[in-house]
Amino acid sequence: MKDWKEKIQNAQSLDEIERIRIELFGKKGYFAKEFERLKTLPKDQKPVVAKELNSAKNTLFQALQQKKEELLAKEIQRKLQSEKIDVSLYSVSGYKGAVHPVQHTMDKIIEYFTALNYAVEAGPLVEEDFYNFEALNLPKHHPARDMQDTFYFQDGKLLRTHTSPVQIRTMLSHQPPIRMISPGAVFRRDFDLTHTPMFHQVEGLVVDEAGKVSFANLKFVLEDFLKYMFGDVNIRFRPSFFPFTEPSAEVDISCIFCEGEGCRVCSYTGWLEVLGCGMVDPNVFDAVGYKDVSGYAFGLGVERFAMLLHRIGDLRSLFEGDLRLLEQFR
Ligand code: PHE
Repeated sequence: MKDWKEKIQNAQSLDEIERIRIELFGKKGYFAKEFERLKTLPKDQKPVVAKELNSAKNTLFQALQQKKEELLAKEIQRKLQSEKIDVSLYSVSGYKGAVHPVQHTMDKIIEYFTALNYAVEAGPLVEEDFYNFEALNLPKHHPARDMQDTFYFQDGKLLRTHTSPVQIRTMLSHQPPIRMISPGAVFRRDFDLTHTPMFHQVEGLVVDEAGKVSFANLKFVLEDFLKYMFGDVNIRFRPSFFPFTEPSAEVDISCIFCEGEGCRVCSYTGWLEVLGCGMVDPNVFDAVGYKDVSGYAFGLGVERFAMLLHRIGDLRSLFEGDLRLLEQFR
């Protein structure tokens, strides 16, 4: 009994504890044998020895349990210590970084459109109301402004809620024909499994003489693009509404997880919404002083694409910088 107690006390690892547990309480263990021996004792001794045995069993079991918890706590501490990262430490190894999955997805999108001769444009993250809303046919107090919960600065400027203001900036600084995409960060007051206050979009805009750009062109390009990104998926255009396009559509691909059968990711619809698009609204052309033109525009969320392509469940994990996630993309 005392020997066993010491043995438990001196155990150094969870493995050792497990070995002792089997030695003591296993089918062929110490107590099994002792209780077997009990049967051979004279009748009057049985209750006494049985009582002793049971009490020893309880004591040792508790000691074992306690030691196990102690070692477990130590193990967690050790793990925390070993995973601690000293960011100030000078590194001599040729440690190779990786392209972040969001950047990687963005690169792939840009690669597709630049191959089709789209220019890559950029705009400021701190934007003026005029570019983010007003010129996009979203006048002040228009209810559709609520679609996007905006971060405002005190001087009336704002963090752009989408990449669409780059449409306006591009049209004001260029003359048609225009064929451009604009990748970049956007900001909205939102935070849950599928929303973060900062995320990335890629905008697209094509403008040419009236009649030269049609919805059929838009449909062709987006279908080809989505097949390039997701492989052999089914694609559908659903009528929708955006203030800056008319007609507008949202585009779905057949769910790449269940192949359209219906699963949790696609909310049992078989479809995943992946982008918004439409023909540029005449009011937008008016705002930039364009006459006799037609055009289409589209916008998509890069994180959404990255999550689908890499089967990432929680959008927020893309921004936590956890090396265990990021190293998988090396
Ligand atoms: N800007 C829209 C959004 O953020 C997407 C979009 C862009 C829709 C261009 C149509 C045309 O939801």
